Amino acid sequence: MYKNFKLRVRNKLLNILFDLHFQPRHWVHTVKYSLEDTGMPSQRLLDLTKKAYEFTMENNLESIKSSRMKEGINHIELEQISFFPGAHYRILNGIVRSLNPKRVVEIGTWTGVSSLAILDGALSEEFKLTTFDIVPWNTINHTALIQDDFGVHFEQKLADLSNREVFQEHKDVFQEAELIFIDGPKDGIFEYKLVEYFKELNFDNNPIIFFDDINQIEMLNLWHDIEKPKFDITSLGQFTGTGLIDWIKS
Ligand SMILES: C[S@@+](CC[C@H](N)C(=O)[O-])C[C@H]1O[C@@H](n2cnc3c(N)ncnc32)[C@H](O)[C@@H]1O
Repeated sequence: MYKNFKLRVRNKLLNILFDLHFQPRHWVHTVKYSLEDTGMPSQRLLDLTKKAYEFTMENNLESIKSSRMKEGINHIELEQISFFPGAHYRILNGIVRSLNPKRVVEIGTWTGVSSLAILDGALSEEFKLTTFDIVPWNTINHTALIQDDFGVHFEQKLADLSNREVFQEHKDVFQEAELIFIDGPKDGIFEYKLVEYFKELNFDNNPIIFFDDINQIEMLNLWHDIEKPKFDITSLGQFTGTGLIDWIKS
């Protein structure tokens, strides 16, 4: 409650300070800076994104929305699944189609809308998505998931990945991954720890890391300091920032 009040005051002050005459539904503060000192995309990231964009144009994910609405599920995140640009779901689905991975890891299940966007893009018979959270999916009262979503292709693991020992227990799942989607708390601590843990892993497949909210103020240092080929694709994704990393061995 105090945090919301503080945010409202901060936004109002910024409106006055920068003479902004609009009040959108949701906004975050950021800093835009020159790219040449922060790292550029690899050819792999450019090609992957080009293909993903084409897939994104072909699939608006409306079918997920309508099938869930038939189950009586309807809320703002589900509504956003079709937004393009502005939300990350469609380009995430496009990246899955473009990469055609067998193993995907998601950090941050929440209502499961991003899980559904990933699952919809799965092409391989051997596909498997492992989604991590600290909260069981079926205790979120507006979850978009149903029990039938789970099986050989989809599982949820409950684990506090900020804890090094807990993360280590799951390291095989990460090492096998070809795509890792990170959408955690963005509290200025969690994602920083995660990147440190990733540096200690021995990845089998040079995974692509899909990072949400990279333009959020708490994420700016993290994104800037990653010393791997990377691509800020915010214009195709979440308005608060979407970034891809080519996690090649250094
Ligand atoms: C922004 S939500 C995920 C939204 C979802 N990916 C989507 O796009 O629809 C962030 C999630 O991260 C989870 N989370 C927070 N701290 C965590 C931790 N230490 N380990 C694992 N998950 C965590 C939260 O419980 C929350 O469900």
